[in-house]
Order: sequence, then structure tokens, then C-alpha cells
Amino acid sequence: MNVAAAQTPNALTLENFWHPIATSAEVSDKPKQFRLLGDTVVAFRDEKGVAAFKDLCIHRGAALSNGKVKDGNIVCPYHGWAYDRSGACVHIPSLPAGQPIPAKARAIPYQAREEYGLVWVAMKDPVQPFPQWPDNAWSNPDYHVFLINVYRWKSSAGRAVENAMDFSHFNIVHAGYTELADGPVVKPYEVERTKEGLAFAYEDGRIRREYTLDFPFVIHDHKKVIATDKGRTWSETDDTRQGDSTILTFIAAPVDEKTTHMYAFMARNHSLDMEDQSFVANFDLVTAQDQLIVESQRPEQIPTDIKEELHLRFPDAPAIIYRRLLRDMGSSEAYLP
Ligand code: FES
Ligand SMILES: [Fe+2]
Repeated sequence: MNVAAAQTPNALTLENFWHPIATSAEVSDKPKQFRLLGDTVVAFRDEKGVAAFKDLCIHRGAALSNGKVKDGNIVCPYHGWAYDRSGACVHIPSLPAGQPIPAKARAIPYQAREEYGLVWVAMKDPVQPFPQWPDNAWSNPDYHVFLINVYRWKSSAGRAVENAMDFSHFNIVHAGYTELADGPVVKPYEVERTKEGLAFAYEDGRIRREYTLDFPFVIHDHKKVIATDKGRTWSETDDTRQGDSTILTFIAAPVDEKTTHMYAFMARNHSLDMEDQSFVANFDLVTAQDQLIVESQRPEQIPTDIKEELHLRFPDAPAIIYRRLLRDMGSSEAYLP
């Protein structure tokens, strides 16, 4: 993103946040290359868990991902330099015994952790708490959570996230699927700036939607059924009841400025006897409707100058604040611990 360009050496960038690089299943004991923020990352797992580095050997620039893991170290495929988890080079085969390894011989380690069936990387010290589910749904026994799909979009993560928090397109793009029961008019509503990002709620007479953004790219759409007599949306079943709660979560991984991997999850406290798979086809269809729009948006990056593009006060209130957060990321101290 243009906002990633640091103004000062200490300015925050998108590197200061956790992003997923892959599903857990994609990371094994063999080093493999992934992409994040326009750069290459190598990741593997061993008994100590997942590890990730910039996919570059400082010696001659070979990709470490073509190498192997030996005794917990990642070994470059070219001249066999071995790096431990801290990035320190611990072995150079061509050096005579007793000769010290240069202190500058280091790989660049990233913080890595495995959560929610995904492998996450922070390229620099993360400044936000790790993203959590509303209602603690991930570990709450009242809920069942599953990964619906991973969508690969030719768009920026910002555009994808802004789409996921924008319900004023429902009655246009998703007509017949996930419409606002009293739309397309959008009533006034409040947007709150939170420690994690922002939060807002909207009721259409039938469903209350609580949106929470974990800045920059994790968005939860928590839908609670408040009445069952008007309309219906695709994510509920015919016997939808008051109190049914569905959380749609979009985690947008910024692969590069024009590529986003969207990890989409559903958590539900209802229809627990239904197969997860029965929700997927409709979700794929609705997501494809969004993809067509979002991939067409120009410029690909969200313009963070509020004067660019045209905003309506109520439907676009979250987007206005979101753009300010993106714009101010480098200069503001809002995210410092
Ligand atoms: S390029 Fe990696 S060891 Fe030489
Ligand atoms: Fe949509």
C-alpha cells in the first residue's frame, strides 16, 4: 500500500501487524515459499512450531525455500550456510574449523505463530493485540467455526476489507441473497473507534449486524436474528430463530499491492446438525459477486485522501474512518503499545 511507505525509520507500516501467509496444512517440515506484502517469505515447522524468515540468503541471495531444515536450522541450498531460529548463521561448510562465523551472517527472522488453522507472520514487532473472535466464538462451545474457503482476489487487501464492511451494496450486488430487509435506504448509524480498529452495528428490522474491524485487515460481521417475519438471507436456514447468531469473518492477507488472499470463516450457534459444506456454495456465489466488483476498482489501492472518491455520510461512515486509519498509520501513535 502507499501507506506502507515509511515517513521515518520508526514509522509503523503494514509490517507491524500480523497477517496470515498460509493455512496450517500448507506449512510442513520442508521449507516453502509464500508471499506477503510484495516480498517472499520462507516458512516451515518443526517440533518447536512454525518458523518464518525473509526468503533470502545474505551470502549470495539464494532463496532459502529451496533448502532444507536440519537439526532445527534452515540450510541454504547454495553453499550450505545454516541459520538458527534467531537468524544467526551457525554453520558455514567452507570455513576451516575454528574460524569464526562473521556476525553479519544472518537470516532475517519474522515472528510466526499458528492460530485459527492459519500460519501468521509479523515482519516487524506487532503493535496490535492478536485478532480475536467476537463472543470468543473460536473457543466458545456454543459456536461451531469453520474455514469456508480461501479466495484469491486480484485486488488490494484494503479494497477487499472495505467491501466486507460495506452493507449498502447488498441490495444491489447481492439482490435475492443477502439483502437488507428494509434496504436499499441506509438509516443513520454510529461508528465507534475502538482499540482494535472500529465497530458499528446496523439493524434492518430482521437482523442486527455487528461489525468489528481488527485493523488493518480482519473484519467480523456478526449477524444476530432479531425477528423472523421479514425476508431472509442466504446464511440462515428455513427454521431460523431469534437469537441465532452467525459470524462471518474475513481475514484479508496482503500478498502484494494487487493480490489478496481472503480467508473466510463462518461461526454459528445454530443449524449445528447441518453439514458445513451446505453453506459453501452460496457463500462462493456471493463472494464471486463481490470479487467482480472489487477487482474492477481503480485505483487498486484505497485512496486514503478523503477528498478522493465521493462519500455519503451514513452508508460510507465506516469507510471514511477506515481510510483515516490507513492514512495515519505511519505517522500516528494510535497503535503503539
Ligand atoms: S547463497 Fe546461501 S549459502 Fe551461499
Ligand atoms: Fe458483498
